[in-house]
Amino acid sequence: MSSRERIKKGFSKLLKEEKLKLIANYFENPGEVIALLKSYWHSDTGQQKLFDEFSENTITNFFIPYGISPNVVINDKNYIVPMVIEESSVVAAASAAAKFWGERGGFHASVIDVRKVGQVHFCWKGNIQQLQQLFPEIKQRLLQDTESITANMQKRGGGILDIQLIDFSQQIDDYYQLRADFNTCDSMGANFINTILEQFGHSLMNFFAERTDLPEELRETEIVMTILSNNTPECRVKVWVECPTSQLDGIDEHLSGHDYALKFKKAVDIAHIDTYRATTHNKGIYNGIDAVVIATGNDFRAVEAAGHTFASRNGHYESLSTVTITDDIFHFELEVPMALGTVGGLTSLHPLAKKSLELLGNPTAPELMTIAATMGLANNFSAVRSLTTKGIQAGHMKMHLNNILNQLQATDDEKTKAREFFKDQTVSYAAVEHFLEQIRK
Ligand code: MEV
Repeated sequence: MSSRERIKKGFSKLLKEEKLKLIANYFENPGEVIALLKSYWHSDTGQQKLFDEFSENTITNFFIPYGISPNVVINDKNYIVPMVIEESSVVAAASAAAKFWGERGGFHASVIDVRKVGQVHFCWKGNIQQLQQLFPEIKQRLLQDTESITANMQKRGGGILDIQLIDFSQQIDDYYQLRADFNTCDSMGANFINTILEQFGHSLMNFFAERTDLPEELRETEIVMTILSNNTPECRVKVWVECPTSQLDGIDEHLSGHDYALKFKKAVDIAHIDTYRATTHNKGIYNGIDAVVIATGNDFRAVEAAGHTFASRNGHYESLSTVTITDDIFHFELEVPMALGTVGGLTSLHPLAKKSLELLGNPTAPELMTIAATMGLANNFSAVRSLTTKGIQAGHMKMHLNNILNQLQATDDEKTKAREFFKDQTVSYAAVEHFLEQIRK
C-alpha cells in the first residue's frame, strides 16, 4: 500500500491558497489540480468565505445536485420539495410516488412528539437511596441555575420539560445519570441543550460541594461528560398512505390490485424479519429523508442515527415502515424519529438551505418533520414497487447510462442515439464506450 508523505504540523494555520498548493503536490499534475479545485470556488468571495468557515481546512466546495420533487401532497397541502442527493434515481422515485399517491388522497402525517433528550453522566460515591433523597433539591437547583438560559425558549413555548435521575451504579461503579427532556421549538436545539447540560454539570458539582452536612467523600462529584442524545425516540413523526386495494390495479400487469397489495406487504414483512433486507429497505427510506434534511441544512447523521436505533427498538433491527391490509384497504406507514430545526444553525446560514425552507413555505420544525418523513415513505414505496415488479435495474440503468455518457463526454446527439440503442440492451461502461466508438467512426 502506498503511503502519503506526512503533512508537517500547522496545516490548519496555513492560508487557504497555501493549503491548496500543498495538497495539489500530492497529485501528478499540481497545476491542473489547483485550477480544477479553484473552478469550484464561488465567484463571490463573500459567499465563498461563508462556506469556508462552515468547516476547517476548506480548500474547495464539493457539489451535489439540488433537485425538486414537485407536487407532494401532505395533509391536503401541496409542497414543492427540494432534495439534495447524488444518487441518480432518488428524486425520480420520490416524484413518481408523489404523483401516484397524489391521485389517491395524498400523504397523511402526524407529529407524535417533539421531545429531545440530553444527559449528564456523573459519578458520585453515595448510594441511590441517598441520591434519590437529595434529587428534588438537586432538580430545583438545576432549573434555577439555568433560568437565564431557558428564558427565551420558554417565551416561545419550549424549555426543559423534565429531569430524571437514572441509576447505573450496578453496571459501572458510582455511575449515575441525569436525563433531561427538552422542547427546542423550531430550532434543532443542539447548542441550547448542550449549554444547559454543561450548566447542569457545574450546578451539580456545586450542589454537592456546598453540602457541609455531607461526609467529605460525598461532597465530590465527577462529571464524566454532558451531551445531548441523538436517540430521540419521542421526537417522532408518523406518515402514511392508504387506498382500496383495487386502486393498485395495473401496478403489476399479472396481478390484481388486491394480490399486488399482498405481494407488496410480503416484501415489507420480509424487512421486518430479516436484518439484511431491513438495512437495505431502511436505506431506501433514508434516501428520501436525507435528501430533504440536507437541502434544509439539517444534520442527516443525527437523523439517521436516531432512525436506526429506533429500528432496533424491538430487540432486533427491522423495517421502519409497515403494511396492513384490512377490509381491502392497503395502508402503508412509516414511523421515524426526526430531530430537525427550521431556525438557527446552518438552516439560517446556508443560502440554499434558507431558499429550501422558503420553497417549502417556511415550515415549522414539526411540519418539516412531516415533509422529510413523507419523502422517506415516498422513496420506500417506489423502491419496493420497482423491486416487486420490473426490478430496480431498469430505472437505475437509465440514470446510470446518463452518468456514463457524461463521463465519456457524449454530445447531445450521441446521448439521444445511445438512449435509443440501450432501451433494450444491457448498460455497462464498456458497452457504452464501444457504442460511442462505433458511432464516432
Ligand atoms: C437504493 O439506493 C435503495 C434501494 O436498494 C432500497 C430498497 O432496496 O428498498 C432500492
